[in-house]
Parts: sequence; C-alpha cells; structure tokens
Amino acid sequence: MSGHATPIPMTARASGPLNGVAEVPGDKSISHRSLILGALSVGETRISGLLEGQDVLDTAAAMRAFGATVERVGDGEWRIRGVGVGGFCEPDNVIDCGNAGTGVRLIMGAMATTPITATFSGDASLRSRPMGRITDPLALFGARAYGRRGGRLPLTIVGAADPVPVRYVSPVPSAQVKSAVLLAGLNAPGETVLIEAEATRDHTERMLAGFGASIFTEITPEGRVITLRGQPELRPQAIAVPRDPSSAAFPVAAALIVEGSDVLVPNIGLNPTRAGLFDTLREMGADLVFENPREEGGEPVADLRVRFSPTLRGIEVPPERAASMIDEYPILSVVAAFAEGTTIMRGVKELRVKESDRIDAMARGLEALGVRVEEDADTLIVHGMGPGGVPGGATCETRLDHRIAMSFLCLGMASKRPVSLDDGGPVATSFPGFEGLMAGLGATISRDEG
Ligand code: S3P
Repeated sequence: MSGHATPIPMTARASGPLNGVAEVPGDKSISHRSLILGALSVGETRISGLLEGQDVLDTAAAMRAFGATVERVGDGEWRIRGVGVGGFCEPDNVIDCGNAGTGVRLIMGAMATTPITATFSGDASLRSRPMGRITDPLALFGARAYGRRGGRLPLTIVGAADPVPVRYVSPVPSAQVKSAVLLAGLNAPGETVLIEAEATRDHTERMLAGFGASIFTEITPEGRVITLRGQPELRPQAIAVPRDPSSAAFPVAAALIVEGSDVLVPNIGLNPTRAGLFDTLREMGADLVFENPREEGGEPVADLRVRFSPTLRGIEVPPERAASMIDEYPILSVVAAFAEGTTIMRGVKELRVKESDRIDAMARGLEALGVRVEEDADTLIVHGMGPGGVPGGATCETRLDHRIAMSFLCLGMASKRPVSLDDGGPVATSFPGFEGLMAGLGATISRDEG
C-alpha cells in the first residue's frame, strides 16, 4: 500500500496519570525478518506475535509475490511455506513496500542473487530515501539496479545469474545494509563477509543461525566481521516475536513525563543492540525497573516497570550509543524537553534519512511547541523546560513518519496546551493499536475533523 489516502488529524491533551499494563506490539525488525527467512526456508515456519502493522503486511504481500505461501491463521499467528534459498520466482507486478525501508531493503537483498527481475516502489517517504547504500553492495554480487536519480525508487533489480560472494565493509552504521548483504550472500557460493565498524542490531545474524545457516561474528580492531557460508538449506522455525522496544519507548516516555504515572510494559525485547534508550533514560534519572529478565527465542526479554520521574536531567548521549537507539531519538527529544538542563545528541546524522529527516521534523515541531533546540548536520540539542514546563499549543507535521507522530502525541499528554498533528495516519505502519493502548492507560487522544 503506498500511503494512506486521507490525512487523519489528531490531538493529544494533558492526561491524568497513566496507569496499567501496556501490551505493545511485536518487534518490527524481527517481524520483517521472520517473513523473509520463512519464505527462504523449505517447509513451514510458524510465527506468533507478528506485528500486524502496514509495514510488515507489505512484506508479507511481497513474500507471496515471490512465490511463498503466507497465511494469517489468528491474531499475530502466521504460517509461511517457503520456497528455499534461491527459490524466489519472478513477481508479476511491482512490489509495493509502502512506507517500509526495512522491508524494501531486505527484500532487495534477498532476491538480488536469484536470476529474476523485480521492480520496487513505495509511498512518497520511501521514494525519497537513498537506495544506493543497498544497490552498491548488491552490484558486487553481480546484480544490476536501475532506479531514479540518486538511486531512488521506483527501482528495478535484475538479480545475478551467477552470483559471486562478497567481502564488504559497510560505509554506514546500518542494519538494513548489513542485512541486505547477508541475505544476498545466502544464494552466493562460498563465504560472504560483512564488516561493520559500529555494532548495529543483530537480529539477522541471530535468526540466520536459528534457521540453520553457518554464520559467525568476530570482534576485530576493524569492527565486527560477520562471515556467512552461502547456499545453506534453511530449516523452518517456530518464532515467538518479542514485543518491540522501539514501540515500548512511547508508553515508557509518556509515563515518565505525565505526573503520577505507573505503567508495566511486559515482555519487551532487550537485545543490547536495541536497548540504548533505556540506558540513556536511566542516566537522565528515569525510574525504570526491569523485572523477570529471561531469554525467549534467542532474544533477551524482560518486563519493564516505569514511573513518573519528576527529576529528569539533561545529559550528553554518547555518540557510540547511537546505533542501539537510532529509532528512539525522536521520543528521547520529547523526554529531554521535560528534563532540567540540556540534552545533547551527537552522531545522529542517520536520522536525516529515515522515514523523514527526523532531526528537522523534531526540531521544527519542538520549536513550534515552545521548546528551544539547536541542530547541525549530525547533532540535535534540546533545552529542557522541566516537568510540566513545555507550553505545547501548536500543530506539528508528521511527514509520513510514524515515530514523529507518536512522539508529538506523547508530548501533548504532558504539555500545558494540546498538541495536534496534521496527520496521525502513519502510526499504523508500526503501532496499529497505539491510540487504544494509550487511551486504556489514561491518555487523551482524539481524532479531529479533517
Ligand atoms: C532496521 C534498521 C534501522 C532502523 C529501522 C529498522 C532494521 O535502519 O532505523 O527502523 O530492522 O534493520 P538502518 O539500518 O538504516 O539504521
């Protein structure tokens, strides 16, 4: 689906204490990978807890187009009959990945070493995002890409007929680039090696190992060196998708800034390559307690108890933490607005090429809501106004970006005056039950007349 048709204006108002249990949806990164790896296995993969947001539904449709049988059998319960590594058939129409950068980039990798041709497109946000970071390494395998200026979508990939394995040093800290290379390496003979200077989320490596691929990671002075042996037979799996820490971030942040709140977020994924936000919030003085730490499906999980934290203080977030919380800077900048002092976020230029330019989207929105910010190409600085100190009282642009939308709605639950969005529709890409879940905790969010 290429974007929702009609904008959905929304408003969040000062809310009573948030209380209760926040059952956030399944992890988006793991959901995409479950469908793609299920489609590349021989036999039936069973998934529970799949995120049924539009991004992931678009990946499910894409896997069908490449020949896998994909069935929804219950809430979050899915079955996939895969076609095996190298078994993708040529789709007979354009693959529409909607808003999903992860979907399109991983799928391009997964098909690039099979001798088929596929054309990819998406919504206005996805069509504006750089794809050269994916098509450059895929060319080394022997795939060819024909896109719009700057390698943008719509883009056609002609898969390599005789793929060769690749050794690739990723020039950007991106799990999507890493994953595209590893998925392409699956159907190349011999060993594909991916080197990343900074650790990015490692779900692809963990899940490939779970599906039976030979893959190992060495920590060297050059960075993480990941070696994958090509042309394995992937074995179908039963996958229980943990809840998404990036989605949990929204009720967690709202509880921290809304007076009197006390919220439990059960069963959230705490993979260390994803959990940087929680370290940062604790350094700011947030009242977070992890209960029942355990391992589920190869991923660490725990229940997170969060309480209103009236003495948050601004900090400098270490830039080396950026990859482990890259999707959480928008909501962190909201929490920072309610802290005392200044929060400095450096090393965040990747935010400029997400679903929107997230530095610009947050800076403009926060300014409109009465918060002082500074920015440069790679930095966002928020000058906190203390608990209850943010004026609010403006309409923010969401720019087809779900995380920008949810961040400003959370801000509006604690600001003096309401916060409106031009379009809350993008929330459904990653967190379809967001409004209901937040209302259940005590938040006041309304849909406005268009
Ligand atoms: C993702 C990787 C990140 C992240 C995105 C999900 C993934 O993107 O922002 O939401 O599932 O691999 P980059 O790899 O481009 O940083």
